[in-house]
Amino acid sequence: MSKDAPINPRVPTLWHGGDYNPDQWPEEVRRDDVRLMNLAHVNVATTAVFAWSQLEPQPGRYDWSWLDETFDRLHKGGVYIALATPSAAHPRWLTAMHPEVMAVDSNGRRLLHGYRQRFCPSSPVFREHVARLNRALAERYRGHPALVLWHVSNEYGPSCWCDLCAENFRRWLKDRYGSLDTLNAQYWSSFWSQRFGQWSEVLPPSDLCSWVPNGLMLDWKRFQSHMVCDFFKHEVAILKQVAPQVPVTTNLMGFFHGLDYAKFADGMDVISWDSYPQMGADPAATACNHAMMRGLKANRPWLLIEQTPSSVNWMEYYTLKPPGRMRLWSWQAIGHGSDSAMYFQWRRSRGGPEKFHGAVVAHVGNEKPRVFQEVAALGAEMEKIGPRVVGTAATAARVGILWDQENRWALEGSSGPSHNKRLLETVFKHFGVLWRNHISADMVRMDADWSHYKVLIAPMMYLIKSGQYPLQAPPEEMRGRLDEAEKIEKWVAAGGTFVTTYLTGIVNESDLVYEGGYPGPLRRLLGIWAEELDMTPPGKAANALIVDKGAFAGAKARYRCDRVFDLIHAETARVIARYGANWYKGRPCLTVNKFGQGLAYYIATDAEDKFLAYFYRALAAAQGIQPLVKPTAGLEVLEREGAGRRLIFFLNHGAKLIQVNLGKIRGKDLLSGKTARGTVKLEPCGIRIIECA
Ligand code: GLA
Ligand code: ZN
Repeated sequence: MSKDAPINPRVPTLWHGGDYNPDQWPEEVRRDDVRLMNLAHVNVATTAVFAWSQLEPQPGRYDWSWLDETFDRLHKGGVYIALATPSAAHPRWLTAMHPEVMAVDSNGRRLLHGYRQRFCPSSPVFREHVARLNRALAERYRGHPALVLWHVSNEYGPSCWCDLCAENFRRWLKDRYGSLDTLNAQYWSSFWSQRFGQWSEVLPPSDLCSWVPNGLMLDWKRFQSHMVCDFFKHEVAILKQVAPQVPVTTNLMGFFHGLDYAKFADGMDVISWDSYPQMGADPAATACNHAMMRGLKANRPWLLIEQTPSSVNWMEYYTLKPPGRMRLWSWQAIGHGSDSAMYFQWRRSRGGPEKFHGAVVAHVGNEKPRVFQEVAALGAEMEKIGPRVVGTAATAARVGILWDQENRWALEGSSGPSHNKRLLETVFKHFGVLWRNHISADMVRMDADWSHYKVLIAPMMYLIKSGQYPLQAPPEEMRGRLDEAEKIEKWVAAGGTFVTTYLTGIVNESDLVYEGGYPGPLRRLLGIWAEELDMTPPGKAANALIVDKGAFAGAKARYRCDRVFDLIHAETARVIARYGANWYKGRPCLTVNKFGQGLAYYIATDAEDKFLAYFYRALAAAQGIQPLVKPTAGLEVLEREGAGRRLIFFLNHGAKLIQVNLGKIRGKDLLSGKTARGTVKLEPCGIRIIECA
């Protein structure tokens, strides 16, 4: 698929719709759904997500009636279908016949029927039943003109500690390490008598273990993610066999902890994700999530497949999205490259745990509510300009932040040092500073092609893969090995600017500390040696980062830094800033090393945002990267391009009117149809989408 192709050429416009559960409703309600969908400008409905028991009420006895009717009725009404495989919630008869399809929890207890995503991904019985049902679904609907997407399962997540999974885990470990001696060495298992003498002694870490080597914990997380991914691939294989022309997705959850989405992305035709920011959330954090999701597939168009039209029942506060907010966040996602704005859920259920979740159609059951009207208005806008947007993709940034889920697992699982639980916060901090300064940034995979990036930032890249062990095993196509230090070095040597921080380059892929001084395999690149790491309670030993005179143009000399103080020695690096206080006053806290054609920076302390803003503006300017318009609080500027078009989105997330001086930008304001040039006004929640002339 070319980068800017529509997700499915059958719907060459923006997708607007959401989760639709006709199986829960009687005929007269279902009939009215199409009328309401038309009023709301809905063009795609996601169907059958949790409908297994209505599709197969008894083992082997299918009831297609309601789904046949849904396909035909929606098709007649001009609405396409994203058809789910219903594996996320399985029927009671299956667990009655085969209790072993249920997962075992980390305390060794077999779960009972209920909830969703609670199956054992290793269970051959479960796999067989899912394969059978998926095949039947695919065979029945593959030729239907309404079918435009496979929505595989729903929010894959938790995993299983059963004996089968444990056995698969041991097999996976054997494949990874080859011998028990290597495994023991990698886990440093002589510590606290953790040595394994037989493969059969290796157990999945559980809550009952209290402590296991972090390398084992890390492998278990990798394996769990791998097992669920393998299950996903099992589902996909059948769909691809029967209906290969229909693209495949599964809905992801941003920075979800449990799975390594990079591995899933490779088995997906299109990325989709469920975005649920709380009211009042920092729009930069939402932007970071969007960037991370689209970065899984090098910024190709993706789907915002779920958001709430208004409230969310499972959050601590049931806060409504006030008028305009849902529209703003929908266009924000589209500005970040989504080809859709879809909702959970179309119609609020009368019962079940989500009866108070936001929905397009409220319990009152008609088009009168504010939320419905806002959805309909957005739908009309999307319909109007969709064909201009689809065919473009989020413009690749020249600055990127590296993200590696394995690094996150390793760091968060490590017993200290104290800052290790703050990776996500730190990534948001760096991303947020770039966002507020309008330096557009991607979230970038470690194994991506980095050639078009000018600046890559790796906050707290604690784990650096040595390349000695397969990235993931099996299946075969995932067995690549990656020496990350070598990759970074090559990229810098060719002219890249690399930035990293404290807590970088400490361990290999098994959480085994690199010998020879931190930052381990990056020591040569960074030209420093980090001898000791001081971490203090917030505000207790706040320090200053004092920039050497003339280091950067326009530098303020002194910035606040706090909590983390890496005590480093410059080897080949040049010192740019030094600590201003404490017993390490005068020692370096910001360095740069020239390496080949490029530069490698090390930020040794947790410096205030103002410093990062100043620093990143300087680095960007050095690479000729300039904001499109003057950075203004609350303003987000996004760009999509493709098919000979360039669109610029202006979004006002703040509470005040913003006047944007467009400078050289001019073109058609797609929503109003008027020409935009000079200064344009943006009310709070205001949006302008300009197709550049
Ligand atoms: C997730 C799920 C949906 C629904 C919503 C509620 O995104 O995929 O089925 O439960 O949460 O917010
Ligand atoms: Zn299991």
